[in-house]
Amino acid sequence: MPKMNALVLEEVRKFDSLQLQKVVLPDLGPFDVRVKINAAALNHRDVWIIQGLYAKIKLPVILGSDGSGVVVEVGESVDKTWEGKSVVINPALDWGDEPAAQQPQFRILGMPDQGTQAEYVVVPVENIHDKPSHLSFDEAAALPLAGLTAFRALFTQGEIGPSDVILITGIGGGVAAIAMQMALALGVKVYMTSGDDLKIKKAKTLGAIDGVNYHDKDWSTALFTLGGKSGFNVVIDSAGGPEFGQLLDLVKAGGKVITFGATAGNTGDINLRKIFWKQIRIQGTTMGTPEDFQNMLQFITEHQIKPIIHAVYDISDYRKAYQDMRDGQQFGKIVLKIAASG
Ligand SMILES: NC(=O)c1ccc[n+]([C@@H]2O[C@H](COP(=O)([O-])OP(=O)(O)OC[C@H]3O[C@@H](n4cnc5c(N)ncnc54)[C@H](OP(=O)(O)O)[C@@H]3O)[C@@H](O)[C@H]2O)c1
Repeated sequence: MPKMNALVLEEVRKFDSLQLQKVVLPDLGPFDVRVKINAAALNHRDVWIIQGLYAKIKLPVILGSDGSGVVVEVGESVDKTWEGKSVVINPALDWGDEPAAQQPQFRILGMPDQGTQAEYVVVPVENIHDKPSHLSFDEAAALPLAGLTAFRALFTQGEIGPSDVILITGIGGGVAAIAMQMALALGVKVYMTSGDDLKIKKAKTLGAIDGVNYHDKDWSTALFTLGGKSGFNVVIDSAGGPEFGQLLDLVKAGGKVITFGATAGNTGDINLRKIFWKQIRIQGTTMGTPEDFQNMLQFITEHQIKPIIHAVYDISDYRKAYQDMRDGQQFGKIVLKIAASG
């Protein structure tokens, strides 16, 4: 049986159980394609899974939601012209028919389905798209999960427009960084927070107006003084945590807080009066529909956006890559190089 190299997680709460192994090539169904992965990328979800902090973990698993590569084989019902094409993979599987939210069968590539941190991955043909020509394989691998989540948060849910002033928290994060790039491309004024002053400086050089360090005790007052006095039209947050309530002070009356993560844990007490009196909408969002993915690709192509890459590691250096993400070192995406292009 043909085999491939893959990063396999066998046990949770044990970083050492993530190992490069030889595993059997995945089966190809009639509507599937086999992609030879050129580059994969990390998402915080991979770390949550290793830490045992994700729902319904099934092991062993090949991690990885993001990937770019070349189609090397197609299932019997798939158009043969896909063979040899350079593609990027949409990791949102089986969204369903409702644009408002995913159906119960919805899954994210890379657990329970076998993911992209391997030489090959098998995915339904509906989940592959031509790689945008302005992106290298590394850049294309950095795009899917973060780009999709950011696009839906900003546009489908946040309905931001060029005259808006927005706040993005934790700007070093993979989703936050590309959300900033997309908002800036539209001419939106972006403020941000980070736990690292150097990342604030970097975000400013990229076009954000200003930001504050969320480790400072009075960060939200500082942000208010800095530019948020009239309030932000939209806040994009994936930190949550005990200080989430302070975002309700920073958002404009009639504005929206878009939430897609809880990196800092659950919220503390939320003052309901602020929500109804200011007529604030708190809107959850998760990844996105196939249409969101298509629109995201169109948007980044139109604006020639290249995702910010913090580092590219060879797959054999996967421990360093995971360490960076666990320690919150990154500004943007961490990419794993799996194979040479071509
Ligand atoms: N619902 C969905 O569809 C969806 C999709 C993608 C991600 N997520 C979730 O969203 C979160 C971010 O994902 P990611 O892949 O972008 O992760 P990531 O690259 O690891 O980024 C996490 C970032 O969170 C920021 N952060 C940490 N503590 C914070 C705090 N107290 N206040 C503000 N920011 C804080 C840090 O920003 P600095 O480095 O600037 O300090 C860090 O870089 C994760 O919880 C992930 O599970 C959800």
